[in-house]
Amino acid sequence: MSTAPESPKPPGPFLLTGYAAAQLGMSIALLVLFVLWVLGGVLAVLWVGLVLLIAVIPATRAIANVHRRMAARVFGSPVPDPYRPAPGGFFTRLRVYATDPMTWRDLAWMPVAFVASFTINLTVLILALGVVTWFIWWFATPWLMRARAAVDRWFLAYSRTEKLEQRVQVLTETRAEAVDHSAAELRRLERDLHDGAQARLVALSMSLGMADAAFDEDPDQARRLIQDARATTTSAIGDLRSVVRGIHPPVLADRGLGGAVQAIALDMAIPVSVDARLDGRPPAPVEACVYFAVAECLANVVKHSGARNAWITLSHGDGVLQAVVGDDGAGGADPQSGTGMLGVMRRLGAFDGTMAVSSPTGGPTLITLEVPCDLSSPRTMPSSAPD
Ligand SMILES: Nc1ncnc2c1ncn2[C@@H]1O[C@H](COP(=O)(O)OP(=O)(O)O)[C@@H](O)[C@H]1O
Ligand SMILES: [Mg+2]
Repeated sequence: MSTAPESPKPPGPFLLTGYAAAQLGMSIALLVLFVLWVLGGVLAVLWVGLVLLIAVIPATRAIANVHRRMAARVFGSPVPDPYRPAPGGFFTRLRVYATDPMTWRDLAWMPVAFVASFTINLTVLILALGVVTWFIWWFATPWLMRARAAVDRWFLAYSRTEKLEQRVQVLTETRAEAVDHSAAELRRLERDLHDGAQARLVALSMSLGMADAAFDEDPDQARRLIQDARATTTSAIGDLRSVVRGIHPPVLADRGLGGAVQAIALDMAIPVSVDARLDGRPPAPVEACVYFAVAECLANVVKHSGARNAWITLSHGDGVLQAVVGDDGAGGADPQSGTGMLGVMRRLGAFDGTMAVSSPTGGPTLITLEVPCDLSSPRTMPSSAPD
């Protein structure tokens, strides 16, 4: 999340008068857009209405964003662009527009902005033009334009309560997903142990039992059974190792995220360059989550992209750990068409993390994973000797 640049000095009467004039001009455009909105709504049953809306809504948003920036300058505090990202095709975009509460606030704001422009802003402009009124203009303009900015902000920015409500909504969803995810993980572990190590230990016990029975009559047979048992023990150990790796890979504990990612990169069939710029370690659960996420993205590169090269960057700044996995393959990655990337999103969601996918047809594909977290202080000792 970017922090707004410092704006210590509020705009003076001259700049504010400029805002007033610009807003008055934009209010004409808003009126036209409002009419088109209504028209688009009425004609939505026909195709042409939808086409109209998909053009009118971004135009309205652009104008609303100019007002947000002006209000931010007037109050000296940021008024963020609150729209939900609306990527994808025609219908997806329309659906996101329709379900974004800010779309409807914009709509309600348009006539209000028009009225405010022709009362507040026009007053400022008339005062500015009058020779005898310049004194009033000088003192009244900051107040008038603050009132105007307050109107805009009331419509165009979420209040504290609304932001908290949205936050609760997100947390409820991610918590439910985290619970689902951990239940699924437990089932997977149980299955792995049941089918793997447990089955082998049962076989081991049988071999040893038979060896015991055969010991006196047929020592050769007993020895063969014991050799079998040894082989089974080795496989059981291997199974247990792989279960452990699925929980928290030892390489992660030993070498940290950068080293562990480097290790997967080396195992890939294509060259993968790793640029790890982390001076410290994220908390262990975050580290594991990002590690598995990167592993899934790299598996996808090999499985789906046909890329000749891939690259990974790991960095940390502004309290956010960022991992980017890129490849020069065919593009077209779509989380909705599989299970792997959705799983990654769910895992990240538990840590308030996000995954952004940029994968135009023809490539390149860039998967950006971000998780807010702090790094523990950098290690002063070199890592323990390799095993
Ligand atoms: N790096 C990539 N390049 C091209 N296509 C990709 C890439 N990653 C994923 N995809 C596409 O996105 C789909 C979804 O990926 P994912 O959710 O991991 O599912 P899957 O289980 O098929 O791997 C894949 O089926 C594939 O078509
Ligand atoms: Mg996959």
